[in-house]
Amino acid sequence: MKILCLGNQKGGVSKSTASLNIAYSLANTYDQKVLLVDCDSQGSSSLNLGIPIDSEDIHTLDKILEPVVLNKVQGFSWEAVKQCIYTPTYQDRERDPDNKMNWIQVSKPFGFDAIPSNLYLSVVELQMGVVGGASRRGIYQHYLKDLLDVIEANSDYDYVVMDTAPSLSSMTINALSAARDGVIVVSNTDIMSIRGVGSFIESTETVQEMNPNHRGILGILLSLYSERRTVDRSIEEWVKEFLPIPTFDTRIPETSDVKKANSSMLLVSQINKKMKKAFDDVTYEIMYAVEHPSEPIGSAKHVGGE
Ligand SMILES: Nc1ncnc2c1ncn2[C@@H]1O[C@H](COP(=O)(O)OP(=O)(O)OP(=O)(O)O)[C@@H](O)[C@H]1O
Ligand SMILES: [Mg+2]
Repeated sequence: MKILCLGNQKGGVSKSTASLNIAYSLANTYDQKVLLVDCDSQGSSSLNLGIPIDSEDIHTLDKILEPVVLNKVQGFSWEAVKQCIYTPTYQDRERDPDNKMNWIQVSKPFGFDAIPSNLYLSVVELQMGVVGGASRRGIYQHYLKDLLDVIEANSDYDYVVMDTAPSLSSMTINALSAARDGVIVVSNTDIMSIRGVGSFIESTETVQEMNPNHRGILGILLSLYSERRTVDRSIEEWVKEFLPIPTFDTRIPETSDVKKANSSMLLVSQINKKMKKAFDDVTYEIMYAVEHPSEPIGSAKHVGGE
């Protein structure tokens, strides 16, 4: 099971859009069995998948984390964890009799599963810091990793993709720590967003040092990009020259179809061919990087050449 995480402490840079569409591409173009984990209490990616996160019947990520964080139970059980895994699908599809509550009705299925989140995750994040951070320095960052270990032992997912919040909160640190196969930094071409990337890189490096066999950052994915804007091209050059991480060759274009898709509970890859191609291309780059750890990624391939 390969575990990836997308992040940037800057908000609104397309982290959720990229997480969802990369999960979609892995599942539909590359035939991988995928689990998306929404690690953001805003719940944007869960909502985008049509999961009614504020309903009491929905088992969101906080519900599985809280008893463990508060030491009410010893570790995660598969019985409890599987209640949080949802499969958005057609209403009339034959239901799994053992897993009835976990079918979510959507108009166009996405082909991957998800663990949703809601606002209560922010309370659990505080508990993590208080209970784990103070008394057992460093241990609090392993809750998500432990949860994914249970999933790995009991399921056959090929990829886990984690969407994170725009902060370096306990939950984001947990996700960075669990993402042993690589972290993807998502950024738009706004200089303010790029400036924040430096501290995100440093935090990921710290997490990597504490987790042997962690792949660290794979690269930066530029989003909301327009070839026609001179400033986008110059910021891309700046990023390639000055950031200490590779830039993926694929850039995700800016299009109003993202908002259009969101408003119909769809993903932009389902309604826009150019966007589907861009996400398929970057997903290919990511899969290649994951499977060939010794080869250079994106802009790093061209260093010293040409
Ligand atoms: N490629 C794109 N083209 C145009 N609009 C986009 C694109 N990607 C994302 N958006 C829009 O930008 C906004 C932020 O996108 P998204 O929610 O994916 O960002 P985020 O980084 O996850 O935000 P947050 O930090 O709040 O979690 C949304 O309104 C979305 O519709
Ligand atoms: Mg988001």
